[in-house]
Amino acid sequence: MTSLNQAWFDRAQVVIPGGVDSPVRSFRSVGGTPYTVVRGQGAYVEDVEGRRYLDFVQSYGASLLGHAHPAVVEVLRRAVGEGTTFGAPTPGEVLLAEAITARVKGIEQIRLVSSGTEAVMSAVRLARGATGRDKIVKFEGCYHGHSDALLVAGGSGVAQMGLPGSAGVTAGAVRDTIVAPYNVVPRLDESVAAVLVEPVAANMNLVAPSEGFLKGLRDECDRVGALLIFDEVITGFRLSFAGAEEYFSLSPDLWCFGKVIGGGLPVGAFGASRELLTSLAPLGPVYQAGTLSGNPLATAAGTKVLELVTPGDYVELSARVAAFSERLVEAVNASGLFAVAPREGPLVGLYLSREPFEAPSDFDEAKVLCDNGLYSSFFHEMLARGVALAPGAYEIMFVSLAHSDADLERCVDAAGEAAVSLVKALRP
Ligand SMILES: Cc1ncc(COP(=O)(O)O)c(C=O)c1O
Repeated sequence: MTSLNQAWFDRAQVVIPGGVDSPVRSFRSVGGTPYTVVRGQGAYVEDVEGRRYLDFVQSYGASLLGHAHPAVVEVLRRAVGEGTTFGAPTPGEVLLAEAITARVKGIEQIRLVSSGTEAVMSAVRLARGATGRDKIVKFEGCYHGHSDALLVAGGSGVAQMGLPGSAGVTAGAVRDTIVAPYNVVPRLDESVAAVLVEPVAANMNLVAPSEGFLKGLRDECDRVGALLIFDEVITGFRLSFAGAEEYFSLSPDLWCFGKVIGGGLPVGAFGASRELLTSLAPLGPVYQAGTLSGNPLATAAGTKVLELVTPGDYVELSARVAAFSERLVEAVNASGLFAVAPREGPLVGLYLSREPFEAPSDFDEAKVLCDNGLYSSFFHEMLARGVALAPGAYEIMFVSLAHSDADLERCVDAAGEAAVSLVKALRP
C-alpha cells in the first residue's frame, strides 16, 4: 500500500518541479520520500501519517522559538483579522525596524523585503550604487540566496547538487563576482564595491571564522574604500541578542537579515547607516521595491519574536548547545565512527568521517566531509528514530529555544544508535 507521505509526494511531483518548492527540502541527496508536514509545535513537527519528529530543521533557522509559539500565534490571529497587506505604510514595519535598529549599534535605518535573497541582492545593488564600483567578493561555500550574481560557488543546495553555480545565469551576470576561499583575507583593489560574507559560514555545514578573518576583511575593505556586508540571514538574532556585530565586536557597513526576524513568515531586511541608505529610492538613485515588503503579518510575528527573546536566552542556549555538541560527538565516536560538531554560540554543525579529523576551515575541507557518503545513512537512521535533520549534509542543526534538555539528550541517544547501525552496515 502506498504510504500517505508517498501519496502526497507523488501528487506534489505532478504539479511542482521535483515535488518541492525549494531544492533543500528534496530528499534527492539522501534518497527516499520526504515526510510531508501538517503541523509543528515547539521542537516537533508532525507529518501526514501522524508521525512526530524532533525537528532540527526549524525551517532552516527561521523558527527561533520553535513552531507555533503561543504568543506568536496570538499576534498573528489579531493581525490577520485587520487585513494582510495594504500597499501603504503600517505601524508594524516601524516597530520591527525600531526593534532591529535598537539592537544593532551600527544600523540606523533598515529596509524590509520579503526574503533573504532579496535582502542580499538589494544590499549588493546599494553597495554598487553608493560606491560607483562593480566588483563583489564572495567566499566559496557561502550561500547568499539565489540571485544570479551570487549563486557561484554557493553552499547549501547548490553544493549539495554538486553545481558550480546555476544554469540560466549568464557569464555577464557573474563577471563582477570574485570568489575567494573562506578564512583567507583576499587582497582587494579599488574596483571592489563590497565584500559579502557569512560571519559564521552556515551553508557548508558549519565553518567558523578563524581568528582575525573578519577583522582582516574589515581592514582590507577600509584600505580600498569597499563596503563590508555581513549576510546575517542565519546568524541574525540567532548567534546572539544583537547578532554578529555584538558577537565578534566588529561592525560591517551593511547588514542583511531574514529568517528569525519574520517569526516564520516570509521576510528579509537590509540595514546600514542613515547616510548609506540615503542612496536608496525614494531618497536616492538606487531602486528597490516590493508589493509585500514590510508585510503586516511578517512584521507582527517578527517583532513578537524579538520582543520575547532576552540576552540571557542566548547565553543559556549557547551553553546548552555546547554541552549538546560534546555529547553528540562522544555518542558518535563511541561507535567507531568519528564526528566533529563545530559550534559558534547556539549554532552547531555536524560532520562525520571514518577517520579522525579536524573541523574544516574552508569549503574544500567541508566538501570532502559532506560528500563522503556517510550522511545519507545517518540521516535515515536518525529519521527512523524520530529525529529530523536537514536532508542534506551541507546544512547545520537548528536548536530552537523550544528544544528541552530531554529533547537534546534524545537526539544524542539516537545519534549514538544511528552511528552503531552505520558501523555495522559498513563492516565488510
Ligand atoms: C546566509 C544566507 N543568506 C541568504 C539566504 C537566502 O534567504 P531566503 O531563502 O530567505 O531567500 C539564506 C538561506 O538559507 C542564507 O542561509
